[in-house]
Amino acid sequence: MTCRFRCGDACSRAVPNTSGNAYFGDIAADALSRRSVLRAGAFGALAAGAAAVAGLPGARPAAAARGGGLGFTPVAPNTKDAVTIPSGYRQAVVLRWGEPILPGAPEFDFEHQTAAAQRGQFGYNCDFVMHLPTGRDRALLWVNHEYTDEALMFRGYTDGGSATEEQIAIAMAAHGGSVVEVERVGGTGQWRPVRRGRRRFNRRITATTPMRLTGPAAGHDLLRTKADPSGTKPLGMLNNCSGGRTPWGTILTCEENFDQYFVGASETSADLKAMYDRYGFDTESRVPEDSRRWDRVDDRFDLAANPHEALRFGWVVEIDPYDPDFVPRKRTALGRFRHEAANTSLTRDGRVAVYLGDDERFDYIYKFVSSRRVSGGRKQNLDTLDHGTLYVAKFTGDSPASEIDGSGKPPADDAFDGSGTWIPLVTGDQSHVPGMSAAEVLIFTRAAADKVGATKMDRPEDIERDPVTGAVYVALTNNTQRTAAQADEANPRAANKAGHVLEIVEERSDAGARAFRWSIPLLCGDPKAEGTYFGGYDKAKVSPISCPDNLSFDRAGNLWIATDGNPGVLGGNDGLHVMPVRGAERGHVQTFLTVPVGAETCGPLVSADQKTVFAAVQHPGEKDGATPENPASRWPDGDQPRPSVVCVWHAKGRDVGA
Ligand code: FEO
Ligand code: CA
Ligand code: CA
Repeated sequence: MTCRFRCGDACSRAVPNTSGNAYFGDIAADALSRRSVLRAGAFGALAAGAAAVAGLPGARPAAAARGGGLGFTPVAPNTKDAVTIPSGYRQAVVLRWGEPILPGAPEFDFEHQTAAAQRGQFGYNCDFVMHLPTGRDRALLWVNHEYTDEALMFRGYTDGGSATEEQIAIAMAAHGGSVVEVERVGGTGQWRPVRRGRRRFNRRITATTPMRLTGPAAGHDLLRTKADPSGTKPLGMLNNCSGGRTPWGTILTCEENFDQYFVGASETSADLKAMYDRYGFDTESRVPEDSRRWDRVDDRFDLAANPHEALRFGWVVEIDPYDPDFVPRKRTALGRFRHEAANTSLTRDGRVAVYLGDDERFDYIYKFVSSRRVSGGRKQNLDTLDHGTLYVAKFTGDSPASEIDGSGKPPADDAFDGSGTWIPLVTGDQSHVPGMSAAEVLIFTRAAADKVGATKMDRPEDIERDPVTGAVYVALTNNTQRTAAQADEANPRAANKAGHVLEIVEERSDAGARAFRWSIPLLCGDPKAEGTYFGGYDKAKVSPISCPDNLSFDRAGNLWIATDGNPGVLGGNDGLHVMPVRGAERGHVQTFLTVPVGAETCGPLVSADQKTVFAAVQHPGEKDGATPENPASRWPDGDQPRPSVVCVWHAKGRDVGA
């Protein structure tokens, strides 16, 4: 059921990347010498200082001195229909699907939901969460609403063709994002929405909210439609998965599996069809299987009538959460693909780097670096993400290809590691890709990256930079399609069901660098199984983990890893795990919480004061055959399942995880 509603059964279709790009064994070793890059940990104070300048959450040099010691009893694998947390901790739901957040919105009524109500209520399937303090005890909470599961939202729902127009309108209004003002409860780590009448910033953004396309591709012919001949005024954002925060305090939210909302790709021109193929659209049938049929209420979603409309989705969207009237900006300079997340860091010379993953089997990892230095606040940096260079990553292993057999067995040098380069694709109006204009590179970024020899990865999900060391971590969630012949040192397992985490150490620890070293600190799966690796830590003492997805760092430099897909790999529910990345505890994965039946763990965020863990419980009860009459989960209230954001805090006020 998750496959059907989240990504339109993407895995059941052919892999869209048919390029001849190497699985890198045949790419010449890069000139970068091992000695030219400092190892992780050797530059802690400097990197932490840079992060503090960036004003990133929790990036405080002093935190490094406190160390990353963890001290809780890990949650055991389980299949409970509950959020399960360590003893000594407390939990509460912060926001549920359908809670009224705008003035005049009614209380949630599952049996009588309307689009008008949903437009003022918290949306469905919460994903990325950002907590933006406005004072010690007040904050804004930003939450993405990735997609809808109509079979759980509506009684008797079978498919988009027979859905009522009101149901379609409800689903459109349940997508997007929410800004909700929250307050601390009684000096603890608990947060709750502030009372009605005291909310100044609350906002809903949906699939129909007016937006702007900005940057080098804005206004290009390919982005123009009948309804918007300017090519700059799209409506709405779709399938916003994860995201990030800029150093100047705005939100970046990422459009991921946007292809599934359209019909009619089969009726577009041959050139467009080839591009829609590369982006995983169904170009064989006019109406893809399991379509939500939004075209029935809005012909924007019929590509036969509006062949360019889907080119206006698949972007990173910047939103100022402190301005309820802000028109969201789709930043074309960051490229167009299945954007998973957009995490920022300052370069050594004060520009902003944004790390970007394209969540598709055999697709790529990207980085954008601005041309301007970051200076001032939100207003001064409004255009910073419209000017810069977009790069794609190429990974090279340092072990002979013959030693990478696809089993996960380490090569003779005992490490999956090597060097890498960031290959420039486009800088402003200047394309670096032969045969493609700058706008074409930005609109068809996958095709551009195919041409320059980017490395095909095992589904790049979230990417986070360690605020203490400056090392960068990439969740590669899984790729069961990779064969042993396609295994390479950066993606070393064939039929990779459990996924892995990759560590990138930029040259000079500079987020603006063109070269890096990399290694694999975590090959997920059953710790007892061959071919799993936990940073060299004793595998008898770690928690099992599979399908790493969203990442977060706490201020001490521990990596928090949420999972999506564990039930199909290791059997237990998905969860949130924490792993130190430095010192003797490197690789010591411990489960901090697990989510209810059918859910995946999203969000995760450790608050800047380290007193709260936020997690988004996405799609509880989403199991094949589940319906409102026969729900697979009754979380959180013993009734119909409702996607919700939870917070977890220590009963005695300790730092979370410590
Ligand atoms: Fe929406 Fe790639 O997870
Ligand atoms: Ca090696
Ligand atoms: Ca994700």
